[in-house]
Amino acid sequence: MTASVSTKLLRLGVNIDHVATLRNARGGRSPDPVRAALLAQAAGADGITLHLREDRRHIRDADLPAVQAAVDIPINLELAATEEMGRIALAHRPQAVCIVPERREERTTEGGLEVAGDAARLTDFIAPLRAAGSRVSLFVAPDEDQIEAAARVGAQVVELHTGAYCEHIEAGDNAARDAELRRLFVGAALADELGLEVHAGHGLNYDNVGPIAAIPELVELNIGHFLIGEAVLTGLEHAIGEMRRLMDLARE
Ligand code: PXP
Repeated sequence: MTASVSTKLLRLGVNIDHVATLRNARGGRSPDPVRAALLAQAAGADGITLHLREDRRHIRDADLPAVQAAVDIPINLELAATEEMGRIALAHRPQAVCIVPERREERTTEGGLEVAGDAARLTDFIAPLRAAGSRVSLFVAPDEDQIEAAARVGAQVVELHTGAYCEHIEAGDNAARDAELRRLFVGAALADELGLEVHAGHGLNYDNVGPIAAIPELVELNIGHFLIGEAVLTGLEHAIGEMRRLMDLARE
């Protein structure tokens, strides 16, 4: 934890899933994830992340090619290692694919992927994605066995799950926070040593991102829910002002 801050560029992948969640709440086209992706790109995002879930509760199939066609920055498609998702990834060949565990009933991606216990299946799932030109990442807890297994099954990247670290902060448990942060530092160093590129994400916000961004081996953070929620709040004043202006204009 005393490692000096790396001078490596730390990329920001913006996850736009929850723009689609808002859109889907009304069933129409607004707010449009493509517009969100373009705004993210204009604001300096280094990539756009989308999670196509089995139940399609946020991003839907048509969103992927629409966002791909609209932006110039790399697309990172998060998916479960199922036959259906493999077919979709191979059809659209995003620059990056991040394999995540997925349970239908969970509200978000709750834990890391079980790589060590599912190595043969993941090896077979990853090979064609790599052959199609996607850079393959596995979303794992900062656990030595899982990181070593990620290297063995052919992943090029691991994304370390920061959810537990964020939850310990929410709970005010400083000892657990520090222990988890140490695991993230050690895990990132191990992954780097094994030749894996190291990313991280889940639950990050303005208050908790600092210590994570300081992990020297990290080259990318993927952040979604907080950014979209914050954008709603910081954008509300502008949106209300514009509505007020249009209403007043109609009465002139
Ligand atoms: N990285 C991965 C692999 C994820 O599954 C998610 C959530 O979809 C994120 C990053 C972003 O997490 P959050 O929305 O909490 O910022």
